[in-house]
Amino acid sequence: MPMSARAKLGFALALLLLLAANTARALEPITVTLEFQPDLADGRYSYDICARCHLPEAWGNDDGTYPQLAGQHVNVLMKQLLDIRSGRRSNPAMQPFVQQRTIGGYQDLANVVAYISTLPMNPRHAKGPWPPGSPEHAEGEAVYATYCQSCHGAGGEGDNTRAYPRLQGQHYSYMARQARLARDNLRRVDASMSALFTAVSATDFDRALNYISHLPLPAADVAPGVDWRNPDFQ
Ligand code: HEC
Ligand code: HEC
Repeated sequence: MPMSARAKLGFALALLLLLAANTARALEPITVTLEFQPDLADGRYSYDICARCHLPEAWGNDDGTYPQLAGQHVNVLMKQLLDIRSGRRSNPAMQPFVQQRTIGGYQDLANVVAYISTLPMNPRHAKGPWPPGSPEHAEGEAVYATYCQSCHGAGGEGDNTRAYPRLQGQHYSYMARQARLARDNLRRVDASMSALFTAVSATDFDRALNYISHLPLPAADVAPGVDWRNPDFQ
C-alpha cells in the first residue's frame, strides 16, 4: 500500500489545481506548486494527534460521530483536510489541529494522508437498517444506480483522481448524517453533489446509502479481525 499511496499522491497537485479551475469549486483557489513525496514515518508522527479522536485504527464509530478514514482515497482525505483547515467545511473540534501552526504545511498534510491510506479497514462498519431482501434495500439499489453510481462507482468505491469519496465501508450513520448536513446547507459540498438534493428525496438518499452500507468489502482492504490493533501504536 505505501507505494500505491505514493503514486496516488502524485495526482494530488493536479487535482488541487483542477479543483481551483473548476468554477463550481473555485471558492478558494489553491496555488500549490510543490510535488509531494510523502514521508510515512513523519505521517505516523503527525497522526498521533489525529488518533486522540480518530483512534490509532482510524475506523470511526458505529454512531457516526467519527468517520472511517482507513481505506479512503488520498485525494479525498487531502481535500477534506484543506476544506476543514480553511473553514469551508465546518468542523470546529478538528479545525485547530490542521492549521499550519499545528500540523505544518502541505507536505505534512500529504504525509499524514499517506500514512492513513496504509491502514486496513474496519471489518465491521455500521450498516443501514434495511437488510438485503427488504423493499427499502431494493429501492435504494435502484436510486443508487440512477443517481450515485456515475461518481461513487458501482461498488461505492469512489474515484481517487476525481476526489469522489469512497462510500463502501463507511458507517451508514456517518453518511446519513453528512447527507443531512449537506442537504440543510450545514456542510458545504461540491455543486455536483448538492444539485442532487432537488432530484432525490431525503428518504431515497438514505435508502441509497443503506444499499451501499450492505455491500461487501474487498478482503484485501480489510483488517484480519475486529480485534486488530494498529501495531504502530503499541
Ligand atoms: C478533536 C477531535 C479530532 C481531531 C484531533 C482530529 N479530527 Fe478529524 N474529524 C473529527 C470529527 C468529529 C470529524 C467528523 C466531522 C463531521 O461530522 O463533519 C472528522 C472528520 C475528518 C475527516 C473527513 C472524513 C470524511 O470522509 O468526511 C478527515 C479526512 C479527518 N477528520 C482527518 C483528520 C486528521 C488527518 C487529523 C489529524 C491531523 C484529525 N482528523 C484530527 C474529529 C477530529
Ligand atoms: C456528480 C458526482 C456525484 C454524484 C452523482 C453523487 N455524488 Fe456524492 N459526492 C460527490 C463529491 C465530489 C463528494 C465530496 C463533496 C465535498 O466534500 O465537497 C461527495 C460526497 C458524498 C458523501 C459524503 C462522504 C464523506 O465521506 O463525507 C456522501 C454520503 C455521498 N456523496 C452520497 C451520495 C449519494 C447517496 C449519491 C446519489 C444519491 C451521490 N452521492 C451522488 C460527488 C457525487
